[in-house]
This record gives sequence, structure tokens and C-alpha cells, in this order.
Amino acid sequence: MNMASAIEILWKQALKTFDGRRNVGFKLCQKNFDKLWNLMNKITAEDVNLNKQVLDFIQIQSAPMCVIDIFENKDLTISIFILKHGVTMPMHDHPGMHGFLKVISGAVQVNSYTLKTNDDHIIKSNKEIDAFRHRPISLHNNSPACVLTPRDKNLHEISCIEGPAAFLDILSPPYDEDDSGNGPRPCTYFKTISSTSCMDLPDIVEEVKLLAFEGPPNFDSESLKYTGPPLM
Ligand SMILES: [Fe+2]
Repeated sequence: MNMASAIEILWKQALKTFDGRRNVGFKLCQKNFDKLWNLMNKITAEDVNLNKQVLDFIQIQSAPMCVIDIFENKDLTISIFILKHGVTMPMHDHPGMHGFLKVISGAVQVNSYTLKTNDDHIIKSNKEIDAFRHRPISLHNNSPACVLTPRDKNLHEISCIEGPAAFLDILSPPYDEDDSGNGPRPCTYFKTISSTSCMDLPDIVEEVKLLAFEGPPNFDSESLKYTGPPLM
């Protein structure tokens, strides 16, 4: 009998956790979610064959970021993002989505934001919106995966402070420009237009006003092929 690889076990747990995620009335099972988080925490660069050769290539190619798509279906995506040293992935949202981010190489600093509105938001360009900025966190390969939900810490910006930095990302459901009947779920970008420091809430450093815009004009990415263990 073949031993299943760590990424295959993670993938199966992700399928189980998010199966039917797009259906009306889907209810997330916290036990499955926690199990997925635990598996995510153990994933290493070796588990996905992210080796020195790949990391060296990231630094010499021209894009600020490289993306390795591992898996996608209608319920979830699994991919690896690799940021060059000093690069910041601009602030963006994940409308209606859950997400995990697990650093497997290098180090990043994450600034997360929670919108003051309680809706599963889709925000139009040029709209201003109020949010809380959480205390920034630094993550490296021994840090647990950080989690975002449709409400909590749904926006973030990620800076590579020790590069290249790679993180494994699970998102559910995937982004979708033109969803099949469930409405679009595009990725919107934001910039801070004003901020006030905030002392009364734990973990919150500022109240901010954000301006939504469609896409960062100069943040392109290079796509690389996944070379880790197959998922079947
Ligand atoms: Fe993100």
C-alpha cells in the first residue's frame, strides 16, 4: 500500500471540509475546519517540492510574485504564492470566502482588516468603507496558518520581510468573476485613505477608511508548474 503524501491528506481534508460550499444552506463543520487547520500547520516546503532551485529562480525572474496552482474545483483552490524579497501584495479582499495562509519558506508580515459592515460584502470600485486594522503579525515556516472568514480579517496585505517567502493558500469558495448563479466574487483592492488609532479594542490598532479600486496596475505574477506529489 502506498503511503499518502502530506499534501494529499491535506487536499482530501479540504475537499471534505468544503464539499458543497457553494450550495445554499451549506454549513461549515467546525471539527473538519479545525482538522484542516491542524494539517495545514504541519505542511512544509518539502511536502510540495518547493526547493532551492525554485526559490532561486523567483529572485531572478521579473515578476514580484509567482503562483503555483495545485488544485481547483468549484468549492476550493489550493495554491502556493511566492513573493520576492521586499515585495508587498497589495491590500485585497476575499468576498464571502474562508481562507488559510501557511508560510512554508521565508517570512511575511500580514496586516489584516475586518470591515465594520456585517454583510458578505461585494464592494464596488471607488467606494469608501470603514474597517478595523488588526495588530500586524509576522509569520515564518514554524508559525501556524492564519485564518480569514467571510467576516473576520477578510482583507489583508502581505509583505515579504525575508525573501523569497512562500505560503500555501486554501480559499473556499474560489474567486469568481462571473459565478454560475451565485453572483460574482471578484478580488477587489483597497488603499487606506485615513486612519485613527484605536486603544480600546484588543488586537485592533486602528480604525481606517479604505478606498476600493479594481486592480493594482503594476503587480503582475508569473505562473509556475506544481512539481510536488500528485493528488490522486
Ligand atoms: Fe489574500
